[in-house]
Amino acid sequence: MSRVVLGVSGGIAAYKACELLRLFTEDGHDVTVVPTPSALQFVGAATWAALSGKPVRTQVWDDAHEVPHVRLGQTADVVVVAPATADLLARAAHGRADDLLTNVLLTARCPVLFAPAMHTEMWQHAATAANVATLRSRGVLMLEPAVGRLTGADSGPGRLPEPAEIYAVARRVLARGLDRLDLDLAGRRVVVSAGGTREPLDPVRFLGNRSSGRQGYALAATAVARGAEVTLVAANVMLPDPAGVKIVRVGTAEQLRAAVLEEAASADAVVMAAAVADFRPAASSSSKIKKSSGPPEPVTLVENPDVLAELGRVRRGGQVLVGFAAETHDPIGGGRAKLAAKGADFIVVNEVGERLGFEAPDNAATILGADGSDVVVPRGPKEQLADTVWDLVVKRLLAAG
Ligand code: CTP
Repeated sequence: MSRVVLGVSGGIAAYKACELLRLFTEDGHDVTVVPTPSALQFVGAATWAALSGKPVRTQVWDDAHEVPHVRLGQTADVVVVAPATADLLARAAHGRADDLLTNVLLTARCPVLFAPAMHTEMWQHAATAANVATLRSRGVLMLEPAVGRLTGADSGPGRLPEPAEIYAVARRVLARGLDRLDLDLAGRRVVVSAGGTREPLDPVRFLGNRSSGRQGYALAATAVARGAEVTLVAANVMLPDPAGVKIVRVGTAEQLRAAVLEEAASADAVVMAAAVADFRPAASSSSKIKKSSGPPEPVTLVENPDVLAELGRVRRGGQVLVGFAAETHDPIGGGRAKLAAKGADFIVVNEVGERLGFEAPDNAATILGADGSDVVVPRGPKEQLADTVWDLVVKRLLAAG
């Protein structure tokens, strides 16, 4: 059983924190809810008390003899602030201690996870951006807000990620048994590509592949739980959005190339888990190809750009580059050849086949390093392989200084 402090600040998404609280308590965690005074405008103290089974305080003056502002922070295994409003982020960034929650944030030595939610303009304001950068540089886990419908008619980045996804991040953090300094990707920007590209033949048909995006999504989710700022370039993936990542959706290899190159320009690491089509139809029909027109001409294919190889050529100093190689025979030989040809630091060689690789929850792989190393990852959940990849990336980033 872990001790969780759930901070709630005063935004409309406070009602979603009730669901998050239930997820924690149903799993047996000991949760103390610390709302800000303005959060109580949205959800009352009685609701938090009933759902957590504990008294609810907002100020250091409540039950001062227990010194809750010190004790709560010191004894927590994780502090989750959801929603974190612009005002809460500003107060946290400046080290204010004007209510119980901000006091807890100053005394906590465990990982602190912020799930911001606010209107797009407030999220994108230079003041908020600076506060977010300050907090990130101190090693907190800052989830990117989700994109979508906000309180009014507006929509954009600023939504609270789904409670189940926030919970998944917190659970990963707790499972790693971290203290704050173990967030080894804190302050790092990483880009992950996931899924499989689709190359259109006409408006309804495409050349595609069987990649589900699971391995890429596991890489993104585990990087978030280790403190990274994550951009996920997702090609035709149907999975729920992992909390806290910026998602760029693409369809074709050309679109994936453009998105990955743009995001990679400022990234510390890029992991190419997407299955990128090597070829695309030379022409795609703007209208549906009709049966009545008879069998179509054989499809002529032209080569797509090799994104990983291009990243290998243009990468900035110290950037770590990881590719995947799906092989059906001579995996290690094929993987070593790809490593050299593409200029990557690591190639994760997957043997694809029955119940492994595509669409499966499990994976087994050998991670080949440009320095001649190899790490065998036995069959297990895709998160396990993802964490091993990040272990190697972190080592490499630290070696690069
Ligand atoms: N990749 C890429 N752009 C391409 C093809 C592949 O960036 N046009 C990347 C993949 O994301 C993966 C790695 O290169 O990280 C290897 O992909 P794979 O399909 O195994 O290798 P290919 O280079 O396509 O070689 P082959 O199809 O001959 O095995």
